[in-house]
Amino acid sequence: MNATVDTPQAGRMTRVDGPDKVTGRARYAFEHPVDAAVYAWPVQSTIAKGEIRDTDAGAALALPGVLAVLTPDNAPRLTADDPELALFQTRAVAYRGQLVAAVVATTLETARAAADLVRIDYAEAPHDVTLTPDHRGLYKPDKVNPNFPTDTEAGDPDGAFAAAPVRVDKMYRTPGEHNNPMEPHATIAWWDGDRLTVFDATQGPSRAATIIAGVFGLQPGQVRVIAEHVGGGFGAKGTPRPNVILAAMAARAVGRPVKCVLSRQQMFAVVGHRAPSIQRVRLGADENGRLTAIVHDVIGQTSTIKEFAEQTAVATRHMYAAPNRRTTHRMVRLDVPTPAWMRAPGECPGMFALESAMDELAVACGIDPVELRIRNEPAVEPESGKPFSSRNLVACLREGAAWFGWTDRDPSPGARRDGPWLTGTGVAASTYPARAMASQALVSVDATGHYVVSIAAVDIGTGARTALLAVAAGALGVPADHVTLRIGDSELPPAMIAGGSMGNASWSWAVTDACRALREQIRARDGAIPAGGLSAQSSTGDAIGALPDHARYSFGAQFAEVRVDADTGEVRVPRLLGVFAAGRIVVPVMARSQFIGGMTMGLSMALHEESMIDPQFGDYPNHDLASYHIAANADVGDIDARWIDEDEPELGPAGAKGIGEVGIVGTAAAIANAVYHATGIRIRDLPIRLDKLLL
Ligand code: MOS
Repeated sequence: MNATVDTPQAGRMTRVDGPDKVTGRARYAFEHPVDAAVYAWPVQSTIAKGEIRDTDAGAALALPGVLAVLTPDNAPRLTADDPELALFQTRAVAYRGQLVAAVVATTLETARAAADLVRIDYAEAPHDVTLTPDHRGLYKPDKVNPNFPTDTEAGDPDGAFAAAPVRVDKMYRTPGEHNNPMEPHATIAWWDGDRLTVFDATQGPSRAATIIAGVFGLQPGQVRVIAEHVGGGFGAKGTPRPNVILAAMAARAVGRPVKCVLSRQQMFAVVGHRAPSIQRVRLGADENGRLTAIVHDVIGQTSTIKEFAEQTAVATRHMYAAPNRRTTHRMVRLDVPTPAWMRAPGECPGMFALESAMDELAVACGIDPVELRIRNEPAVEPESGKPFSSRNLVACLREGAAWFGWTDRDPSPGARRDGPWLTGTGVAASTYPARAMASQALVSVDATGHYVVSIAAVDIGTGARTALLAVAAGALGVPADHVTLRIGDSELPPAMIAGGSMGNASWSWAVTDACRALREQIRARDGAIPAGGLSAQSSTGDAIGALPDHARYSFGAQFAEVRVDADTGEVRVPRLLGVFAAGRIVVPVMARSQFIGGMTMGLSMALHEESMIDPQFGDYPNHDLASYHIAANADVGDIDARWIDEDEPELGPAGAKGIGEVGIVGTAAAIANAVYHATGIRIRDLPIRLDKLLL
């Protein structure tokens, strides 16, 4: 295995693109100056199900400045596998807000005004947008995202649960939630003959180029995707969304560069969402809190045009030891946009249920919830029997309890009062898979000793540029200012997306391999670099394929303190502490920001986020940031993230497990558990709104 790369400069590094960002030099997709660009604005369906009978673009085309109106009647044919990207290829409407037409005009305002003038006559059909536990359309998907078995079972879970002296059997619900990165989805597209170039807000230039090429029937080399700076994604920019296809289609139609940016309201229909979940968790244990049975049954939703089955019960497969266990996923196809990735898809909603149920079991057994988790720590991955490459949940729980001041906690619910406030504390565990995906890198050095490292990685705000620079400088053994890092362009060596918390592990593996190979070349020449320079390439597919068959995850423990107003039910979270074991932490400043960002989003999930769907209207009425509430500065109190030193010997030379997502997992349960401790009220359906707490 690769020796871990030494990154002596990382501890002192701050965000290398910080000055560019705060001074406005950093350019995001929509901000690139492009000559003679025109603007596309989509028309969204106003029905949730049915067919387009007729379209009338006359009034829109009559508006000065309008160049084209694209509809299913005139749009060029596409070769998209993904129905969400097959823009204007059908007259069928699958959900309200689906893109059904678009206007291209010389100004954004004209395009937007003209979009309102496009008349679409629909044959409306009855729709169904409501997920219920006994829905007639429940079915078993073949797999769950991205490729996990739908169900798993071991031993006799029903028998063991029935025989258990202590039982928890509860339903938990999480609502639909929407990704709202600060930067909206935005694209500038232009054609040069049959070559397409796009500036795009994407989490993965390489994958985006491949997918876009497929939609337009091109070879991958005919599409270039550039993403210099990206303002967040959380999964919603993991693959191209319809805005990219629209910009490219419109650019081809009018023969000019086209800019397309989604409004915040449009994003709620276009960029995916976290599907609501209905989860039943059954835990059976002996009087000492040792689990004998774990059963986690999940109901989720997808759209009628594409399956996305969130892997909600998957984390339950590796968290705690129990000889008898089962996990299942069932789905319903509804007339809604296709759900998609949202930070820790699966683990995030699933661990709300499991970690709430563990707290309920701790109460039922009269055992401290930290101790209960430690008692059920497995020696090997419970379902597969595989060894863990490294697992330090117990250390996170113990050190977190010490730092937080958990010792001597009085477990009685509703027993502490500070003026109008009931106070309490709660704990929950976090977990996320640690993986890497094949990537390539190229590094070259010129005769002056300056290095250029190239990889089609992307920094979506995580600090990837900073971490990769630290890794490259470490692997080359030179100061970071001797290295130029080129990322954010699909013409660079192909790389994994910034997703699944795999970016840093995947990219730093490729970068280290290339840097080490170049360093060897230089060493072989006794340090003499020829006038023409030297270069080396790497490709990590084989090494990743040869990884030992071990179970690899990050873990964490989150501790929350809450105050609940006894009269109004208002919940405040004055203190949150997360302690993580996520392999080696490459750049501490960036890592802390990822952890507390995840925890803040978890707090937001606990208290605020809820995409409400109106059954008649068939859409989300709260489709903007005025009514879709998210945690803001005043909601976040003393929030702290720490980590324990963890040696991850297998997952590439950075030894990093990935930290983008583990921070959001478990936060909502820690807060709900603290709310129970404060009030005696157990909230099993998020968010924890004050109306659910009126005493
Ligand atoms: Mo993350 S939801 O894999 O971008």
